[in-house]
Amino acid sequence: MYLQHFGLATAPFSLTPNTSFFFGLAPHVEALQVLHTALVGGEGFIKVTGEVGTGKTLICRKLLNDMAHQFACVYLPNPYLSPQELRWAVACELGFSYSAKVDQQQLIQLIHEKLLSLAEQGKRAVIVVDEAQALPDESLEALRLFTNLETETSKLLQVVLLGQPELDQRLAQDKFRQLRQRIGFSYQLRPLTEAEIHGYVEHRLKVAGWQGGAVFEKGQIRQLYKASRGIPRLVNLLCHKGLLLAYGAGVRRVSAKQLKAAIADTEDANSPMSLRAPVLGLTLGLAAAVLWYWLQGSAL
Ligand SMILES: Nc1ncnc2c1ncn2[C@@H]1O[C@H](COP(=O)(O)OP(=O)(O)OP(=O)(O)O)[C@@H](O)[C@H]1O
Ligand SMILES: [Mg+2]
Repeated sequence: MYLQHFGLATAPFSLTPNTSFFFGLAPHVEALQVLHTALVGGEGFIKVTGEVGTGKTLICRKLLNDMAHQFACVYLPNPYLSPQELRWAVACELGFSYSAKVDQQQLIQLIHEKLLSLAEQGKRAVIVVDEAQALPDESLEALRLFTNLETETSKLLQVVLLGQPELDQRLAQDKFRQLRQRIGFSYQLRPLTEAEIHGYVEHRLKVAGWQGGAVFEKGQIRQLYKASRGIPRLVNLLCHKGLLLAYGAGVRRVSAKQLKAAIADTEDANSPMSLRAPVLGLTLGLAAAVLWYWLQGSAL
């Protein structure tokens, strides 16, 4: 809607974890470094945790892009899988096609043989599990057993777990102590600082094609920081709404008032209670946006 108004080629604050928007923020760069080092070092389990919206899926995609030439990657974006489903998902990603005739024991044998032949070609396999907090207990155990597949000298299969903090709570249970001991490396994503949000917002606008000056001035970056608590997904949501309101007002800079309205309109953003009730700001802003759009059209 506002792309033309700001001279943008693409939406700058989409919620999709698109790697072409990746910005090398310290937490994400460090997480990727830990993952690279641990994978190359042959660690069995590596874990990355972070609050909702902090960038885990983006890291996952970046890792898969970066490591594809070096490892046979098995990506499990949906971990609501029973142990049997999990084994089949791994087998299918490794190139087998499903057959009801193969029982679980044979399947494990087939996977083992495939991993050995990959190892002969100098490739190790990595299972990357996103949303790992949702893995059923038995499937976590099935993953652990997978990492028992090894040659005399090295593991045939490594596992990367990415999940929300609930994953740590689950792994803290006594029944997971064996798995816990195998997690050689882990990393916890922290929220962004105010300065990081500044760089992040400017980077996304630039990638989207913005060529002007500051769309969000220092004061607005502070507002974004406070309201988002440093969570990138919330920053995206607030910036998107802010841009809509600026567009509605026919300006190319988001004002404090417009951002306040965007914050009040955003469920998970921190805003003073007094602002919560009248969520009119954004609604009025959007009405103005439509009017502006209509006036622009009739002026042509
Ligand atoms: N370093 C970064 N560079 C560019 N965009 C980022 C960065 N970090 C996070 N984002 C953006 O933040 C948004 C949320 O990221 P993502 O979906 O990866 O979060 P998540 O941790 O997987 O959330 P959830 O726990 O809900 O699955 C996405 O739009 C993503 O592109
Ligand atoms: Mg995610």
